[in-house]
Parts: sequence; structure tokens; C-alpha cells
Amino acid sequence: MDTESIRRDFPTVRDGRGIYLDNACQTLRPDCVIDAVTEYYREYPACGGRSVHSMATRVSMAIDESREAMASFFGSKDPDCFVFTKNCTEGMNTVARGFGLRKGDVVVTGGAEHNSNHVQWLAMQQEVGIRRRIAGTDPEGRFDMDSFISCLDGGVKLVSVGHVSNVTGCAVPLKDIIQEAHDRGIPVLADGAQAAPHMKVDLEALDVDFYCASLHKMLAPSGVGMMYGRKEMLERLRPLEYGGGTVGLTTYDSVTMASPPDRFEAGLSNYAGIVGVKPALDYLSRIGMDEVSAHDTRLQRLLQKETEDIPGLSIVGPEDPDERGGVFSFNIKGLTSHDIAMMADSMAGIMIRSGMHCAHPFFVSRNIDGAARASFYVYNDDSEMRRFADCLRRIAEAFA
Ligand code: ALA
Repeated sequence: MDTESIRRDFPTVRDGRGIYLDNACQTLRPDCVIDAVTEYYREYPACGGRSVHSMATRVSMAIDESREAMASFFGSKDPDCFVFTKNCTEGMNTVARGFGLRKGDVVVTGGAEHNSNHVQWLAMQQEVGIRRRIAGTDPEGRFDMDSFISCLDGGVKLVSVGHVSNVTGCAVPLKDIIQEAHDRGIPVLADGAQAAPHMKVDLEALDVDFYCASLHKMLAPSGVGMMYGRKEMLERLRPLEYGGGTVGLTTYDSVTMASPPDRFEAGLSNYAGIVGVKPALDYLSRIGMDEVSAHDTRLQRLLQKETEDIPGLSIVGPEDPDERGGVFSFNIKGLTSHDIAMMADSMAGIMIRSGMHCAHPFFVSRNIDGAARASFYVYNDDSEMRRFADCLRRIAEAFA
């Protein structure tokens, strides 16, 4: 992987606008994505899927191309199994609300979930009366398969798991989880927000029922996500929103719903964002997702080596860098995570995230106040890891 040449494709990198290590939140965008968005606004800023004039037809064609790019990127033969959402959270909520869960039905989740796979289930507990079982995790946040299997007995209607944690970077054994659930006739929804940007995800090989991701975490424009569903799953799912674009015909007292994916894309959409999906995914495909994973791991190992003798620095998550994907969460004794993040920015222009990362139960259950978190992507390089480690050393020695 030619990181030097990749770095030239990202305006904020080549213009020296600081070291961006907040990629688990949202990635930077390469020229090809920015150009696609600008081209949309300059040349054909119309709606898609409705009007038949030339500009609108071009939008409709660009949406189709982005949907086809998603299908091909995620190993699916059927673009109609992919719904554009505004983010992963919207997809997760659509499945939760539309799956037809009733009072007493059980949903099983993992124990290190982001709020995008937690809060809707709490709401469903209160509003619908569903029940919840939470599979255990070890102290470092690894998924406990035995605990998960013991959660599957009796009344389970859906398993919903985060594929990779946004705090520890640990991946769950998704293929095995799906196998165990399917052996018992239970469908599986996966939150792929932190997995899809960092590893090869083949949805048909996984045989997952629903898979959601945020495309702005994988070089696409802000506010674009996806909800994948197997065809028969999408057909039985109720939409979260109703309105224009989702129907065949309505009369004063009846409605014929359109087929998926249109059924789930109510109202005018984020067309500028959607047209940027194809160039973003094509860019990642040219690099190769196995290369992206290997790059993340290499940076993890280097950062671990450079930081291991910093006084008071402790890692949140597994000690083994190979288990942490593209996420390095840590604390420095005597400092809050927000202190660390603000100092890294003001002292060295290094942008990281701090706090509980919308995964409060993970921290509360371990009695940890939060963590500073650096997360990497394809344009981060060795010299940035060294500068980051050097900055952390100065912070620890001066302030901790
Ligand atoms: N889920 C995103 C993060 O971890 C926002 O930063």
C-alpha cells in the first residue's frame, strides 16, 4: 500500500491541517469524492427517482451506480438489498422498529455495544415490552461466545451485535454468532459501523440477515449510511418513515408500498452524499480491504511500541495490538481523557476523540471515566504515529 501517494489525494493531509486520528468518528475525503459532490451541485443538483428531465435522470443513474458499487463492495449480487440511510444508527433503528417485535420477545446483544445498538432496545423495552439479554464480555471487551450461546434459549426473536467495538477495536466472531443463531432459527442484525471501513466484509458469505454501516466512516460524504437486508428480510420489514418515493399507488384510503429499497427511502434524499459513495468505495477497492486491515495493524504495533514506556499510560482493550483493529484507546494516570485530547490538539495539532464514545455501559460497568482514543485510516503514516507518541510522552511527563 502506497501511503505516500494516498496522502496526496486528501486535501486536509497534503495541506498540513493537522494529524487526523478521529477516523472511527468520520474519515477524511479524497479529491475524487469531493469532486463528485461538487459536480453534483454544479451540474445536476436535482432530485432522483421522480422527475424524468435530463438532470433528474442523471441523478437517478448516479444513485443506481452508487447502489451497485455498495453491492459489489460488500459481496452481494443484488443492489436492491441495499438501502441508503443517513447513518448506521438509522438503519439499526429501522430494523428495531420495523421487525415486528412484540411484548415478551427477546433480543440478544453483545456487552460492548455502541448506543446505536443499545438505546433503541431500551426504548423498545419500555414501549413494547420486549426483553433483553446481554452476552458477556471479558474485562478487555472480548466477546464471550459461551455466554452468548447461553442467552439463546427461549423466546429469542433477534440477535443484534456490533461487529467491531468503537472503544476497543475488538471484532466479535460474527460468522460463528450467525451460525449459532441460525441453527436455532434466529435472524441476526449486525452493526458494522466500525468493521466495514477496516476489513473485508462479504455479506453473502457471512449469511447475515441485516447489516448496517456508516459510509462517512469509509471516505464517503457526511450523512450517508446503509442498511443491507436479505431480500426476504427487507420484504417483511416495516419502514421507519412513510412518504413520497416509498409507494406504488395511494388512494384516499389505501396504499400499495413500493418494493425495497424504495420503500425505505422516504422523501428527498442526500443526493450529493449518495453520488459520493461510488468514488469512495472504488477508492477503497483499489487499495484492497486486506491491505487496509494490514495497514491498521502495522500502525497499531508501531504506536504500541512507541508508547509502551510512557509513564502512567494504560490501554483500554486488549494488550495485543493485533486484536485492536484501527482503534487505540488509552488513559494517562492523573489526567482526564478530555485533558489529553485538548492538549494533543493544542500542542501538536493531533485530533483524537475523548470521553465514553457513545458506549457508556462499557465504561460504567468497568468503573472507568472514559478514554482518549486515536483511530487510524489509510492516510495515516508511521511518522504521525511517532509524533503522536512523542506528544503523549511530553503530556505524561509534564502534567500527569
Ligand atoms: N461512533 C462514532 C465514534 O465512535 C461517532 O466516534
